Amino acid sequence: MKTQVCIVGAGPSGLLLSQLLHLRGIASVVLERRSRAHVMGRIRAGVLERGMVALLREAGVNARLDREALVHEGLDIAFDGRRHRIDLAALTGGAAVTVYGQTEIQRDLFEARDATGGIVIDEAEDVMPHEVDGDAPYVTYRKYGVEHRVDCDFVAGCDGYHGVCRTAIPNQVLKTFERVYPFGWMGLLADVPPVSDELIYVNSARGFALCSMRSPTRSRYYVQCPLEERVEDWSDDRFWTELIGRLPADAGARLVTGPSIEKSIAPLRSFVAEPMRHGRLFLAGDAAHIVPPTGAKGLNLAASDVHFLSRGLIAYYQTGDDRGLSEYSEKALRRVWKAVRFSWWMTRLLHHFPEDSPFDRRVQAAELEYLFTSKAAQTALAENYVGLPYE
Ligand code: APR
Ligand code: PHB
Repeated sequence: MKTQVCIVGAGPSGLLLSQLLHLRGIASVVLERRSRAHVMGRIRAGVLERGMVALLREAGVNARLDREALVHEGLDIAFDGRRHRIDLAALTGGAAVTVYGQTEIQRDLFEARDATGGIVIDEAEDVMPHEVDGDAPYVTYRKYGVEHRVDCDFVAGCDGYHGVCRTAIPNQVLKTFERVYPFGWMGLLADVPPVSDELIYVNSARGFALCSMRSPTRSRYYVQCPLEERVEDWSDDRFWTELIGRLPADAGARLVTGPSIEKSIAPLRSFVAEPMRHGRLFLAGDAAHIVPPTGAKGLNLAASDVHFLSRGLIAYYQTGDDRGLSEYSEKALRRVWKAVRFSWWMTRLLHHFPEDSPFDRRVQAAELEYLFTSKAAQTALAENYVGLPYE
């Protein structure tokens, strides 16, 4: 098989890139290790920056989003019995965030690829990029016991943190940066009405909690938990009791509980791989970087990577101009590191770190007090949360 761009991974990065390229007449093949049902079964992020929404609109997959998504112009931060609304719209000249589950984005993108003849090969085993630092890269994989080869001009590594494409960058070239956090998030999804119209981020005496949502009838909640916790030790009742114990009293009293649809524990890490390009291989999304979910940046960074990479590829194929491809890694990483910083800062602000000293705890309380009382501090949070420009 021959194509122009071979994309490894059918997550949001891979499918969005494939759809954007298709709309500009550029052929791609997407190779996905798991089944489509498995990919669709993942419960992931839910807060979209304006840049992500614009990209989904450009990809022509915004119809359902426009009908069903919620637009949030603010969020609450709660600490020490107080609750402060960060007025995102007022502080950023009208910007807001859009609440729409990643699962729905995956559904919309799969449907669009299917409707436009996209080649998305799932359950592709042992996918492996070859000769990415030459002029004729190719990717091999096996399906139903048969070996296949995809010859291409470029390889897009959209295969996530545990993917294979990053390993195609030689060790002497690849630099990685990582911070692993000493706790995880236990998440629960339930068909109950959200406790509040907007998200509530809580730094409570018992640890972090987050009240989010997917729709007016479906809620998403998280509590910080020790890394050694096992989800099977947490009944729904235990989760609800712990969550209520961390929420401001009025929210706890209002919380509607119900049976979980999904419950899982995720570790938190910050990770960046540099460079995001090697020869004819380009990394995008989680394949190149991971952020703790506190700042809701994971999916949104995948979007800005795809924005930069799609424009570089489109310019190359339409005009022969390869500057976008040459500048891709540096441009993407500039925005990645700002989001990594913000996600680290918000995680540091809102969680209990076991190793924190009494001094650390006082500094954290002062940081929150400063945030509650300073428009400058609130503006800094707001402009990062709604999304910094794609520049
Ligand atoms: N071969 C083929 N496919 C692979 C391989 C491989 N060796 N390894 C991983 N994949 C697939 C995974 O099964 C997954 O479907 O690549 C896809 C990567 O998707 P994501 O992990 O969702 O990464 P990305 O598309 O960059 O989206 C980032 O997803 O994980 C969340 O929090 C993250 O919201 C962010 C978003
Ligand atoms: C979610 O709705 O899953 C969500 C929202 C905000 C975050 C993290 C997760 O910071």
